This record gives sequence, structure tokens and C-alpha cells, in this order.
Amino acid sequence: MSTLNLRNNTLHLEQLPLTDLAARFGTPLYLYSRATLEANYLAFDRAFADVPHQVCFAVKANSNIAVLNVLARLGAGFDIVSGGELERVLAAGGDPAKVVFSGLGKSEAEMQRALELGIACFNVESEAELDRLNAVAARLGKRAPVSLRVNPDVDAQTHPYISTGLKENKFGVDIERAPAVYRRMVELGHLDPVGIDCHIGSQLTTTTPFSDALDRVLAMIDRLAADGIALHHIDIGGGLGVRYRDETPPTPADYAAVLLPRLQARGLKVYMEPGRAISATAGVLLTRVEFLKPTEHKDFAIIDAAMNDLIRPALYDAWMDIVPVTPHSDDTPERSYDIVGPVCETGDFLGKQRPLRLRAGDLLAVTGAGAYGFVMSSNYNTRGRAAEVIVDGDQAWQVRRRETVADLLALESLLP
Ligand code: LLP
Repeated sequence: MSTLNLRNNTLHLEQLPLTDLAARFGTPLYLYSRATLEANYLAFDRAFADVPHQVCFAVKANSNIAVLNVLARLGAGFDIVSGGELERVLAAGGDPAKVVFSGLGKSEAEMQRALELGIACFNVESEAELDRLNAVAARLGKRAPVSLRVNPDVDAQTHPYISTGLKENKFGVDIERAPAVYRRMVELGHLDPVGIDCHIGSQLTTTTPFSDALDRVLAMIDRLAADGIALHHIDIGGGLGVRYRDETPPTPADYAAVLLPRLQARGLKVYMEPGRAISATAGVLLTRVEFLKPTEHKDFAIIDAAMNDLIRPALYDAWMDIVPVTPHSDDTPERSYDIVGPVCETGDFLGKQRPLRLRAGDLLAVTGAGAYGFVMSSNYNTRGRAAEVIVDGDQAWQVRRRETVADLLALESLLP
């Protein structure tokens, strides 16, 4: 669902014209629609209403505390991968009892903090991590709730950089090793095996890999039960894709329709960790054309956003839609533009060969930018990171101010 709409020849987010938002907050600017965030979250929550479940938003997709707060108010839990993300969840008013902690390199300090706060579960990714978690729990006189991230060896058929469920990936434990690892968990003494999880990749556009993975994990749950290890929950991970161009990803309802029949009779609590499918379509990166640069070979539109603001095109060759905020009529010729930033890298582009009618000073909106957008931004070329704004009906709230050069220099010092 998207709340971007063209009215009076001007693109609006919810009720607000993007021209006004650019004038008020400057560019480049990340904008998020509260209504879309909420609708996308509720689509998952409702789709799984027939089973006990907890939707845990994957904080890595968009970790602004106001975004997390919007979701926390609806009852969202959170999937975190660092102590930093845990502190964001707390700052956002999230409930630690609804937090699952994924990631393959948890430090002792991160484990300790999460244990003290009483998170729902540690998604453990290796046997060495089990030992460390057991030791930290023993030291604190606690028991750690654990789920083993198993690697079901299914091909998610997505970009290799975001495919995580194959045997050759660094994530999880080979599913065949699970019985031995759960036995060890019990022996260690300070771990409670409560669940099992898998996450096979991101931006999946069919349900088949999800259902194949689920079958393998459910079969393993049965095998473990026969071994005397009764698990209470299954965490089906994240990964549901969105439409950037012409993909036709399953909706949360389609996804649930495939998985629920197999989950319903089980009495397991179902956790899920969607990130992109909740926040991507809620976000827009608003940018202004600085210059048009026609050359013998190509037409470039140089914009004020760059790869440091949105790295997906440069990193994954990802295609993201770029639309004019106030479209011109045929008084402005259409050309095929490479939309590039000011950063000194040839890979600094947000789009290539886009047929657009452009003039210098125009505003452009990069859509689908609410996931893996701002969170992956950097200060490369000493560029301050963009501001972030949440639009709610006819109101706009700045939820992160633009970084200044002073902010960037503040952490550095000269030699004596
Ligand atoms: N759970 C785990 C354990 C994950 O590793 C991820 C994403 C998620 C949940 C959320 O997946 P989602 O529902 O958002 O697909 N930067 C890349 C995406 C990396 C995803 C990493 N893991 C991109 O921009 O496409």
C-alpha cells in the first residue's frame, strides 16, 4: 500500500505536497507515511490472526525511533541484531519482552543487556555462540530463552547478497545438526530451548521458498519432539518482497494463506521478522536536481542525493523508481537520464536511463525508500546524512534533523 498520490500536478504524501515538505525541511530528505507503515504492519498482524503470533519488525530495515514507536504503539515486537538496535527499541517505547535477538556475532555485553531486560528469545546462529550465551546467563544467575537459527538449504531466488538460506551462507546452523545442538543446549544448563527459526533471504517474490523452508523446519520440530525437546514457538523470519519495478510479490495475506494451514494445528506461537514489507513502501527519498549535464554519450541529471544517502542501486544494482514531483508537459523534452549524485565514484547513481522531462531545480522522489535507505547511509565525502520526517495526515514531524558538518567533526580530534 502506498499513500503517494498525484494531485493538482504535484506529488503528495498523504495530505502534504512534496514541494512544501522540501521547502520546509530541505533536501535530500527521507519522508515516511505513518498511514502506510501502520497499514503494512496491520496487514501482517491480521493475516496471522488465527494463530498465536508476534510480528517483530526487523529494526535493521528502518531504525528511526519514531518509526519504531509508531509500530510499538500497534503492539509490534522487534527483531534486533545489535545492542544498539536494542537501545533504539527501548528509546522508542518498545517492549523488550517482544524482542527477538538475531545476528551471528553477539558480544557478551550485548547478551548481558538483553538478558537483564528479559527479551523473548535469542536466535542463536552457532554452537560457539551457545557456549558464550550459557556462560553469560550462568554469571547472571539466569536462564536464556533460545531458538536455533537453522539453515534449511532452500534457494530464495533473490539477489545473492541478500540470500541467506543456502548451505554455503554464513548464517544459521545446518538443519541436520539441529538435534545434536538442541541436546547440547539442554546439557549446558542455563539455556531454555523455546523455539526454532530460519530466515532464508530478503526481497522474495514467490511463496515457494517460504513454504519449502517451513516444511523442513516443521519436520525438524517433530523430530526434536520425539527426542524429548518440545518447542513452543517457530520464527519464520522475514524476507517478503515488495514491488520496486514490475515484481508481483505475495501480499502478507497470500503469504499467510500458504503457511497457516500447516501452522494452525500445531499450537505453536508464530514469530515473524518482516522489515522491508513493512517500511519500504512507506518511504520516499526526496531530492532536487542541481544541474542537467548533456554530454556526447549521455544525459546526466545531477541531484543533491547520492550513494551515501541511498546505496541500494550502487551496492546491489537495485532498481528504484524515480518520479517527478511536479511533472512537466511536453514543453520540456523527454530524455533518457542517468540520475547521479555528487559523490566522486562512477557507481554513484540512483537510476540509469530513465525517460524523464527534467529542468534544473526540479524535485524528484525515489519511491520504496523506507527500508534499507537511511539506515545504510553514510558520511562518505563528508556529506551530512539527510533529515527524516514522518507525515501523518496533514501534519509533518521532523524525527531526525539533518546532520551538520559540525556534527561530523565532533567525534574527531587532532594529535597533541
Ligand atoms: N530477519 C533476519 C535474521 C534478517 O537477516 C533480515 C534481513 C530480516 C529478518 C528482515 O528481512 P526483510 O523482511 O527486510 O527482507 N540491505 C538489503 C537487505 C538486507 C537484508 C538483511 N536481513 C537491501 O537493501 O536489499
